[in-house]
Amino acid sequence: MLRLPRTIEWKDGIVRLINQKELPDRLIYIETSDWRRVAKAIKDMEIRGAPAIGVAAGYALALFAYHWRGESLESFKRELFQAAEEVKKTRPTAVNLFWAVERILSKASQVSSIDEARRSIIEEAINIHKEDERANRRIGEIGAELIEDGDTIITVCNAGSLATSYWGTATAPMYVAREQGKNIRVIALETRPYLQGARLTAWELSQAGIDVVIATDNSIGILAMREKISLAIVGADRVTRIGWVANKLGTYPLALVSRVHNIPFYVAAPTSTLDLKSKDPTDFEIEKRDPSEVLYWKGTRIAPEGVNAIYYAFDLTPPQLITGIITEAGIIYPPYEKNIPRTLQRV
Ligand code: MRU
Repeated sequence: MLRLPRTIEWKDGIVRLINQKELPDRLIYIETSDWRRVAKAIKDMEIRGAPAIGVAAGYALALFAYHWRGESLESFKRELFQAAEEVKKTRPTAVNLFWAVERILSKASQVSSIDEARRSIIEEAINIHKEDERANRRIGEIGAELIEDGDTIITVCNAGSLATSYWGTATAPMYVAREQGKNIRVIALETRPYLQGARLTAWELSQAGIDVVIATDNSIGILAMREKISLAIVGADRVTRIGWVANKLGTYPLALVSRVHNIPFYVAAPTSTLDLKSKDPTDFEIEKRDPSEVLYWKGTRIAPEGVNAIYYAFDLTPPQLITGIITEAGIIYPPYEKNIPRTLQRV
């Protein structure tokens, strides 16, 4: 049975989340009753991964609602909308964050008292959390059918339990395959500069007893030639309605190499990551983070003084390189422009 620590939890007006910057050295938690602290945790990547930051955004607004003291519903709503704007500014690419905030705001717009608002916002935040866990489990069951005993699977970043409510997206099929008694080996690309692969994916898979090996990001080519890779499974921060996938830096090169070497390339994502409002990769923002995150490692500068860095946090994989998108509603295959909207109609 999978026993991993919970990425994020809500209890009576307190949010507790794993500080992922400290892993794998230390498993420590941030506990707060302050919605701004949760927003800061998202911005600073103490919690990260598209579904997890969606859940955290929901809980940030639940904290706002739980602790708000005042008399007028009008002021409550005005300040809630202001808090929501702050939460939306934390990170721009993962659509789950905006989706979760919109779900909460839509609940708030239907209420007629502060008590009702409080109840309904907290309930919705908890629903978002629970639904994500259920969706990931389902992704695991559906995705595990693609995995055979003895397979080697390659992944990038951490689309694992830590990046979600539980199970992960890309890792869920691995966990379920393991439950089914299949022996698998996972290659986790280390994912510079935050090292989600080396620090987080390797940590959680090894905790779960899965054979995992780390490889540098630039070894994709030789790995595809020498390591008998059966399939690639990656996560997503946003999937447009025609199937462009924004995901962690390194996903697009992995998809290109996979195509050349006939390695099936799957994206695993809950339907909350499908964004019907976006069509082309220019329709939303690709986050650019502070160059210092590339130029320094644990406070030590690793590049010459006076030289800057370019740090796009995500890249974009074109639909034609994607074999299928594993969702809780089934695997979506091309043509994506037809099958993505069709899948969303069913959920
Ligand atoms: O910058 P991060 O660590 O938030 O990026 C995370 C990813 O790119 C994940 O692959 C994606 O969010 C899916 S998580 C299930």
